[in-house]
Amino acid sequence: MSVAEQSIAGAEARGRGFMASSVGRKVLMAVTGVLLFGFVTVHMLGNLTSYMGATAMNHYAEFLHTMIHGMGIWVFRAVLLSAVGLHIWAAVTLTLDNRAARPLGYRNQHTQASTWASRTMRWSGFILAAFIVYHLLHLTTGTVHPNFDHANPYANFVNGFKVPAAAGFYIVAQLCLGLHMWHGVWSFTQSLGLAHPRYDGLRRNFATGLTVLVVGVNISYPIAVLTGFIH
Ligand code: HEM
Repeated sequence: MSVAEQSIAGAEARGRGFMASSVGRKVLMAVTGVLLFGFVTVHMLGNLTSYMGATAMNHYAEFLHTMIHGMGIWVFRAVLLSAVGLHIWAAVTLTLDNRAARPLGYRNQHTQASTWASRTMRWSGFILAAFIVYHLLHLTTGTVHPNFDHANPYANFVNGFKVPAAAGFYIVAQLCLGLHMWHGVWSFTQSLGLAHPRYDGLRRNFATGLTVLVVGVNISYPIAVLTGFIH
């Protein structure tokens, strides 16, 4: 057995069951990735209420906080938090296992496309994780917001993006989200068995279309506030 095979066998023997195997963790990454992708898309659509004015956005926020007698948001938060946690756990442990299994000499092969993609996934994922923490402290708890008002999410949204550094960070984070989503959709459709010259054009257009839509609309929010279109 080669060093690489021994490392993989060792890593898999340490864990128990399907979820500890590398295939199990890849499935877990894909399932949680699709769930998070669904959330980001619905969240982007929900925030369109900001273009309809204060009443629409505040009603929408009130609905989120009071659905199913106020229980809904907690169920939703628990699911989302678990999905983020499992997604990161699977990514980190798969990376560590890959590193342990990497044969000597591979270090010099910088040109491989898959290596470039996975490196991009790592740093865009890291910036996204930092963004999510900042975003929650900014628009959910108000801890890092200049003048947060729990009763007025629309005012928090507008006043929050009036600060150019905050708006700039949102824009950079959305570009990272785009990179992460693009590679995520691309490799997910590959896992579905669609990696074939006949479907590659379709896969590329699908990944690009969805990413441009979500990132484009999300970036429009801070820009609309900075330019005074939303005020
Ligand atoms: C420019 C883009 C975005 C805008 C304008 C935006 C806006 C908002 C607003 C206004 C809230 C507070 C809702 C409320 O409590 O009433 C919120 C919450 C949240 N946002 Fe975003 N968001 C953006 C992008 C994102 C992205 C990319 C993610 C995830 C990757 C995200 C994840 C969340 C989460 C997890 C919450 C907390 C929901 C809860 O209360 O539990 N947001 N967002």
